[in-house]
Amino acid sequence: MAAAEVIDLVALGEDFVRNPYPVYAALRERGPVHKVRIPEGTEAWLVVGYEAGRAMLTDPRLSKQWKNASETMPISSPAAGPHMLNTDPPDHGRLRKLVAREFTARRVEQLGPRVQEITDELLDAMAALPEPRTDLVDAFSFPLPISVICELLGVPMLDRAAFRAWTATILTDPDPQARYAATEKTAAYLSDLLEDKRHSPGPDLMSALIRTSDEDGDRLSPDELRGTAWLLLVAGHETTVNLISNGVLALLTHPDQLAALRADMSLIDNAVEEMLRWDGPVETPTFRFTTEPIEIGDTVIPGGGELVLVALADGNHDPARFDDPDRFDIRRATGGHLAFGHGIHYCLGAPLARLEARIAIRSLLERFPDLALDAHPAALTWRTGMLIRGPHRLPVRW
Ligand code: HEM
Repeated sequence: MAAAEVIDLVALGEDFVRNPYPVYAALRERGPVHKVRIPEGTEAWLVVGYEAGRAMLTDPRLSKQWKNASETMPISSPAAGPHMLNTDPPDHGRLRKLVAREFTARRVEQLGPRVQEITDELLDAMAALPEPRTDLVDAFSFPLPISVICELLGVPMLDRAAFRAWTATILTDPDPQARYAATEKTAAYLSDLLEDKRHSPGPDLMSALIRTSDEDGDRLSPDELRGTAWLLLVAGHETTVNLISNGVLALLTHPDQLAALRADMSLIDNAVEEMLRWDGPVETPTFRFTTEPIEIGDTVIPGGGELVLVALADGNHDPARFDDPDRFDIRRATGGHLAFGHGIHYCLGAPLARLEARIAIRSLLERFPDLALDAHPAALTWRTGMLIRGPHRLPVRW
């Protein structure tokens, strides 16, 4: 039986954007899959709960390729080129392997001292402000990841303000025209940059990706290089910004947890995992399309390119998987959380995101022992759309 009722998530307005968790939990009580209307203006099958969500993320009957979307789909996705997150096996494996050869744990580890340096510079600038208060998103959460990903990829002269506007548009603007225009600008910018690097390579990841080839001599085509650079730049900062902001907000609104962390900074690694679980940056990951009918519970999602969204945010709040899931507890067992996805598309940048968040949050707390929220939590406004979750601004004082 296919669920007939369409739940209009858009009609829930700002309350849902601010706090979607109770809505997902109420849906989960009724079953693992629901037909919903989403901010992009189309209908989708929303999968809630931990087990069902996790199963969908590894289901080969779901495709990441837009060419498999139903012909009646009123939207399409802008892309700067093919990359691992908009392809299926075997292309996916090929693209991921070529990038993973260069984006190694060693390269990430080597970034540690530089991440610390950038962090310290940003905290120095905050400490030097005429008044001991600022918007933490602007002063810290945003500039840190974008500086790191630009240095990693070798993007020296990036116009950060323009880039920030483009990526924010691509990820959260409901207007498809705006998303296309922003993607085209980013793609053109990256084509020029890749051309420069082809002629004068540096020690950076983008130069390495231009050079790299596997044992069989396979390499990334110019289109794939542009797509991949675009994916790494967008995925590499829009998410981490919100891990830092959401994580700091969670601490500042849970004084007992903040005090516990301040008293024992060795808890930072697990605290970051709990921040990812409790209020991670990716609410529902990128679109998936059915290539065959899929039965979940007593619902059959038809084949033929139906849009499926997995509520990672809800999987991470499912009491069947996490005890007392709505409690923010930096000491809890967080293993198996879905904040970085699951299966073949599991986040390639997870080690970098963890490195940045641990350094950023520990250094921020150490530098400002009396850091506090400078607004009522209810007064914060949240990024729109269901992909990325995080506050627009995070006023703090010290
Ligand atoms: C807290 C920060 C981050 C979070 C929460 C996050 C989350 C995710 C999620 C949920 C996915 C899976 C998407 C899906 O299945 O539809 C993903 C994929 C991916 N992420 Fe991240 N990400 C973060 C940071 C980063 C960083 C820093 C990078 C790179 C520098 C990165 C690169 C990627 C890539 C390349 C993929 C695609 C993997 C594939 O398709 O095989 N991410 N990420």
